Amino acid sequence: MLAGKRIVLGVTGGIAAYKAVEVSRRLVDAGAHVVPVMTAGAEHFIGRTTLSALASEPVQTSLWDEASPIPHTRLGQGADLILVAPATARLLAAYAAGLSTDLLTNVLLATRAPVVVCPAMHTEMWEHPAVQANIATLRARGVHIVEPESGRLAGGDVGAGRLAAPEHIVAAVDAVLGGAGELAGLHVVVSAGGTREPIDAVRVIANRSSGKQGYAVAAEAAARGARVTLVSTVELPVPTGCTVVPVETAAQMQAAMEATAPGADVVVMSAAVADFRPVAAAEGKIKKDQGIPQIVLESTPDILAGLGAAKPAGQVLVGFAAETGDLVANATGKLERKRLDLIVANDVSAPGVGFQHDTNAVTLLRAGAPGEPAAATTVALTDKRSIARAVLDAVVEIRRGQTPPA
Ligand code: C5P
Repeated sequence: MLAGKRIVLGVTGGIAAYKAVEVSRRLVDAGAHVVPVMTAGAEHFIGRTTLSALASEPVQTSLWDEASPIPHTRLGQGADLILVAPATARLLAAYAAGLSTDLLTNVLLATRAPVVVCPAMHTEMWEHPAVQANIATLRARGVHIVEPESGRLAGGDVGAGRLAAPEHIVAAVDAVLGGAGELAGLHVVVSAGGTREPIDAVRVIANRSSGKQGYAVAAEAAARGARVTLVSTVELPVPTGCTVVPVETAAQMQAAMEATAPGADVVVMSAAVADFRPVAAAEGKIKKDQGIPQIVLESTPDILAGLGAAKPAGQVLVGFAAETGDLVANATGKLERKRLDLIVANDVSAPGVGFQHDTNAVTLLRAGAPGEPAAATTVALTDKRSIARAVLDAVVEIRRGQTPPA
């Protein structure tokens, strides 16, 4: 869907500006017409000549240096999409506040075309509440955010904030323009977060799951063109293209999964479901002066095992396994018992891995042919979006290997 599209590529002043050249080249190679706009800051990092040479037109930098007195309206109205890569904290703030101080911010305010913004900055800046509030504002207005990745940053330190890889940025642009992503036309159901099982009117049995990994899977599936249903116990920003079904308990999650999974092409059960729940929640709040309560527990249903037993032909079913012991042996047992196509196993006792972290390290185990061992791939410590990509790459491969249902 990139061929023939007019894309304004805004480049702001971060060290990642050099990667915008590669983004531009890839868009032009795919047939897009790239109109480059640089901010004054960007000119400290790359030369106009470089970007002009690899875009479709010479770079523009100012509201005042061309024949037309209103270049921003001409650029903004004529674009099929505006892409900002990299986007600095300043650009995010100006755009969120509607502050039009230079050509790029003017173009962003003068357009009705879809906008894709790719932030890149140091981890401390990216995590600053002001930056996150601006991201939330832009998202709420329908701006597509291609989240930064984790990795080595300009100062040599490692963390979240590195500009997303050029191929991921181009894929996101393609998906926004309605391009047939790898998962286009498919329905993907993802569960996320930990369930909460009521003890009384105010207390619950909960777990440490943040839901971040499930949201990353949902966001990546949507970016690849899928229709995504996200069955969630947590309130995180809803990724573009996902529909959230809010739930709290294992029973509610089971009902939501059983309602949506049968028609789905891919089901990813990344939620941390409680294994035990109080047999009955006390009415009202249990009072301290009533003595120490005896809370009797019962097992919750294994939702994933139920989905495995009822799995329709052609569906790819993915489970997660948070382990502290023999990772591969335990996860392989679950892969087989729950009749999964893929299990994503993580050793939650390792530093930076699993619950509540922004990073994860996993072993992907794929069901082998009958009588054959599961095939294992490891993904070293990285951000949860990159883990999501590895999971969905494996899903795509599994689908390719499946014989289509008769
Ligand atoms: O057996 P274990 O709880 O380790 O399996 C983890 C996988 O099973 C996860 O994908 C989790 O979402 C799912 N699960 C479930 N229902 C339960 C417990 C776990 O669907 N009651």
